[in-house]
Formats: sequence, structure tokens, C-alpha cells
Amino acid sequence: MRIVVLTGAGLSAESGLATFRASDGLWEQHRVEDVATPQAFRRDPALVMRFYDARRAGAAAAQPNPAHQALARLSRQPGVTLITQNVDALLDRAGAQEVIHMHGRLDSALCGACGHRWPAPDRMPVGMACPSCSSPEARPDIVWFGEMPYHMDRIEAALDRADLFAAIGTSGNVYPAAGFVDIAAMNGAETVELNLAPTAPGRFDRVIEGPASRTVPEWVASLID
Ligand code: APR
Ligand code: ZN
Repeated sequence: MRIVVLTGAGLSAESGLATFRASDGLWEQHRVEDVATPQAFRRDPALVMRFYDARRAGAAAAQPNPAHQALARLSRQPGVTLITQNVDALLDRAGAQEVIHMHGRLDSALCGACGHRWPAPDRMPVGMACPSCSSPEARPDIVWFGEMPYHMDRIEAALDRADLFAAIGTSGNVYPAAGFVDIAAMNGAETVELNLAPTAPGRFDRVIEGPASRTVPEWVASLID
């Protein structure tokens, strides 16, 4: 059976990382949409760097929870594709294999000039030079609003072949990820949502309600034990 799993901020909530919609989408009185854009980075790069420095520190201090660990176990089964919108890399730290980071990751820096990537420092200075081409255009390796998510070819190929699609801890507010359930269903996959509460009644074949740290280990056990 081919399984595609999409995860969102709810997966890391019990690791102490605030979800976007729960914190009213605010950071220091700024709307997240006003700091997580290419326009914001051009207008006030220091503010945007500070926002990601804070999130990077938060992610580094957090620990994977039982939901991350269960998905890491699932990822070692054949035919499983793990896609995450989370930039905290907690799935990787739990030992998951080949996680597709469609929105990038906090622990990576990206050169806006040549596309080179390298490990991000704890604090990213504005105008940091790229180690490959020396241009001062380093930025967080994060997909901002208005930018195209990474690895869409691999994701679409996995969705085309999926027998089972699961969305875990994601509100279904942000496209294209929010549309993956419809693509998978159109291709004949069974669809299941794991969330504190259903996000879109009727859109998934099945909903498993509850905190991810409890529901995800139970769901993974039902698949592979
Ligand atoms: N267990 C399961 N689900 C939970 C838990 C939990 N402990 N806590 C919260 N949730 C659910 C919420 O009910 C909500 O549906 O997780 C979801 C979190 O939704 P969002 O905060 O909208 O996060 P996400 O869907 O990942 O956001 C998508 O938006 O800002 C952008 O790029 C950012 O990747 C992010 C994208
Ligand atoms: Zn470069």
C-alpha cells in the first residue's frame, strides 16, 4: 500500500511550538503574512531575520513528540512518502527518512542570487555573504507567501500513486498543500484527517479526532503492527 502523509503545525504543537492560526497569526503585533513574504524581506530585512532567528531558536529548543516518532517509524516502511509544511525539522530529528520539506527549513540558509544552500547560523545577519558566490543575498531557506513550494514534482508523483492519504495537524488554509486531499481522492486514494477537530466536514473519508501525540501512534500501529 502506498501512503502519503502531509503534516502541519499541529504535529509540533505538543512539542511546544505555537501553531499559526492558534497564535492569531501574530508575532510581536505583526501579522505573519506581513513578515513571511518577499516584499517584507525587501522592505525590512532585519525584522524578517529576527522573526526567523526567534523561530529557529524555538525549534532548536523543542523536542520531537510521540507523533513525530511514530511517523519516523512509518517512514521506514516501503511506499511511504512524508511531506511536511513544518520548517522545524522535528520529523528529521525523530529519525524520519526522506522528509519532503515543501516550505523549507529553519536550519538552512539560501542564497537569493545563486541558489546555494548551507546550514543557517543561530542568528542570520542581514547581508550575509553566500559561501559559494559571495553575493550578500543570504535569506532563510523558507518558502514565503507568494512563492512556489519546493519539490512539487515529487509530491504530485506521490499523490498520483497514493492508496491512502493522511493530513495531520494542518488547518487546510494554505494552498497548494490544502488541495492535496482532493488530488489524492481524485486518484482513488482513501483519505483520512488527524486533527483536534475536523477542518472540513465531508472532505475526508474519515476523521480521527484528538491530539496528535495520541492519535498518530495509534494510527501508525494500526497500519504496521
Ligand atoms: N494535535 C493535532 N492537531 C492539532 C494539535 C494537536 N495537538 N494542535 C493543533 N492542531 C491542529 C489545529 O486544529 C489546526 O487545524 O493543527 C492545525 C494547525 O493549523 P495551522 O496553524 O493553520 O498550521 P498549518 O496548517 O501547518 O499552516 C500551513 O501556513 O503560515 C503558513 O507556511 C505556514 O506551513 C504553514 C502553513
Ligand atoms: Zn550564492
